[in-house]
Amino acid sequence: LAPKDLQGLRLLVSAGPTREYLDPVRFLSNPSSGRMGYALAEAARDRGAEVVLVSGPTALPDPWGVEVVRVESALEMRKAILERYPWAEAVAMAAAVADYRPAEVLADKEPKAVAEKVLRLVPNPDILKELGERKDGKVLVGFAMETAEGLERARGKLLRKNLDLIALNWVNREGVGFGSPENEVVLLLRDGRVVELPRMPKRQVAERILDLVREFWRS
Ligand code: C5P
Repeated sequence: LAPKDLQGLRLLVSAGPTREYLDPVRFLSNPSSGRMGYALAEAARDRGAEVVLVSGPTALPDPWGVEVVRVESALEMRKAILERYPWAEAVAMAAAVADYRPAEVLADKEPKAVAEKVLRLVPNPDILKELGERKDGKVLVGFAMETAEGLERARGKLLRKNLDLIALNWVNREGVGFGSPENEVVLLLRDGRVVELPRMPKRQVAERILDLVREFWRS
């Protein structure tokens, strides 16, 4: 039986990809399965936390005992997260939020064009950065996926987004990361600590992250 060491913690988790629609039937997205965020939500629930999970489209069933809010686009995810932010004491942003969305969304499905086509994109807001700007004593956890210069880039994000912890994933390593049940991550902490975890199931990665959330919570 899991120890209820997160009893009373109010945790907001995001998971999965976002979909950025071009027209009613086409969108830009990414292969995030949602597994890391769902593992965090389930592990925190089992340790006694109250959990709200804001999820992009995934094939995973809603975890029991967790309030699940389903969204599609980055803008919808932002709205859902900001609405619940005042309630939360800790936030883990495991969602793979699309960096860009089409500048215009067509109301009707566009007929196939003969010629070449240029798609204009505009940047999405950085949700986690916004949370970091009004941190208000909350514990903030981010994720970073990098293929090169991972440690430096992840540390930059930790500082720029005002986080307590960032989990760095290597996307170009075989058998880990996007869509896979296992992960190989390095945890970078605000106080300078660097914790390299061996390859392990996402549930175990979640437990290690929650150990650190517990340490920062109310400290
Ligand atoms: O800057 P980058 O996208 O690599 O940062 C990743 C972290 O920021 C993840 O925790 C992700 O959920 C979050 N993020 C966000 N809003 C965005 C992009 C990323 O909250 N628009």
